[in-house]
Amino acid sequence: MNKTPEHIYPIFDKILQTSAKEKLLNQKGKVFWVTGLSGSGKSTIAQHTEALLHSKGILTQILDGDNIRAGLNNNLSFSAEDRKENIRRIAEVAKLFANCGIVTIASFISPTIEIRQMAKSIIGADKFYEIFINTPLAVCEERDVKGLYKKARAGVIKNFTGIDAPFEAPLKADLEIKTDNINISESANQLFNFINNEL
Ligand code: ADX
Repeated sequence: MNKTPEHIYPIFDKILQTSAKEKLLNQKGKVFWVTGLSGSGKSTIAQHTEALLHSKGILTQILDGDNIRAGLNNNLSFSAEDRKENIRRIAEVAKLFANCGIVTIASFISPTIEIRQMAKSIIGADKFYEIFINTPLAVCEERDVKGLYKKARAGVIKNFTGIDAPFEAPLKADLEIKTDNINISESANQLFNFINNEL
């Protein structure tokens, strides 16, 4: 992995350094990798957090599962292999944003420890933070905002995370947000405070 193919001559060392861009923006380029089940609240928490960061004058970029899968990754399925390719490409994109000094919030199920480890090694451990949105499956299924759990239970959708495809919770996330008994703005505040401390 990450081996430079033959006849390719990257010029990473010749482009303006990240530190120069971070200085211009007066912030740090980092990736906050948000993992959790479908319907756990990842996207909503990311959106609210982004609004808070923006109001503080911090330049951000959200990368989100449904958005990326509608464009860049619209040729990928939900097989284990394609999920890995999904996350590999997203991690490479997140790295580009972070290297530009931008606070990047990547919100993807990214269901396995191995897949998230791959993202971390592509992005670099020094600028990668794992955020676990811990919402029990029963709660996600009860909400079923997109109606996908119902379809998965009926067998209309196959390989649905938490139903007939695995989700491995992080063993030691940098931040865990238990959404059970708190509302969106409290969850977003937790993430905002965490990010703010790291910039
Ligand atoms: S990942 O597993 O490859 O990381 P990703 O975050 O990009 O998933 O996309 C998840 C979104 O795709 C879900 O929020 C849901 O709306 C939709 N989706 C469609 N099919 C599935 C499926 N089989 N499993 C999980 N999510 C699915």
